[in-house]
Amino acid sequence: MGSIIQSALHPAGIQAARISSLWWLMFWTSVAVYVAVLAAVAFAITRGRRTGHAVPLERSTTRSVSLATALSIVVLVTLLFASVGTGRAVGSLPTDNALGVEVTGYQWWWSVQYDNPVPALRVTTANELHLPVGRPIVITLRAFDVIHSFWVPSLHGKVDLVPGRQNKMALQIDKPGVYRGQCAEYCGLQHAHMAFSIIAESSDAFEQWLAAQRTEAPKPSTPEQTRGLDVVERGPCAMCHTIRGTFAGARFGPDLTHVATRSTIGAGTVSNTPEHLAAWIRNPQHLKPGTRMPPLGLSQEEVQSVTAYLQTLR
Ligand code: CUA
Repeated sequence: MGSIIQSALHPAGIQAARISSLWWLMFWTSVAVYVAVLAAVAFAITRGRRTGHAVPLERSTTRSVSLATALSIVVLVTLLFASVGTGRAVGSLPTDNALGVEVTGYQWWWSVQYDNPVPALRVTTANELHLPVGRPIVITLRAFDVIHSFWVPSLHGKVDLVPGRQNKMALQIDKPGVYRGQCAEYCGLQHAHMAFSIIAESSDAFEQWLAAQRTEAPKPSTPEQTRGLDVVERGPCAMCHTIRGTFAGARFGPDLTHVATRSTIGAGTVSNTPEHLAAWIRNPQHLKPGTRMPPLGLSQEEVQSVTAYLQTLR
């Protein structure tokens, strides 16, 4: 995976570009105001010294203050209009033929579901969104427990996920790439480890990915993998996770049907390597203290076989 971009100053779509323009306008206006104020102070000091009295005539004071007030009002009103204009432009994306994605925030991970009129063709995954470039996307945002906030600085502003409500975000991505997102509303102990990534790719690559995600989990092929699946189905894993094509069908934790295709585990906490996966299964509290997944008390051999099985879930 190439470099991961997370910067509001490197926009990769129209919405983020608008926000970035507003940011630069505010930045340069502030620079100009700052320089003007410093220049005025310097002028006042030197003139006060030269003429020998620091208090200028009353009339010129009135004039200066009026001018400064008028300028301040003009600057503030201009920025207000620019801000409202940006808000309107960002919210006015035409969304015919938009791709619908539902994102639900949990403490502390993201459930992602791709809409389809046929329920069997819906795809559920976690913490990584593959999205096509050049096509409008409408993301419906919900929260399972507390308020979270969905923020991908390179693509859009923040939109909150509020329990009992549904918010929408419409965006379009112009440049392929990997964009990092982050929960932007403090939501408890592991708020900082509630990251996600957006993999923006061509329409073809996206459709291929989606089709692959629709398939059921591959069957285990070695005795160790089979033993791993057995532990998953009979053990505690199936109480919280879904692996389609197996007896694991719970929805409290991330869908693991194709977990091996994801680049991180624990919502961006660590990279998805066999070592990290084994450490996570042994005791997730060690890698992400407070996470809702408890230590499972599996034997070393069980941890190894579950790790071997999960790695086959491509
Ligand atoms: Cu979820 Cu902060």
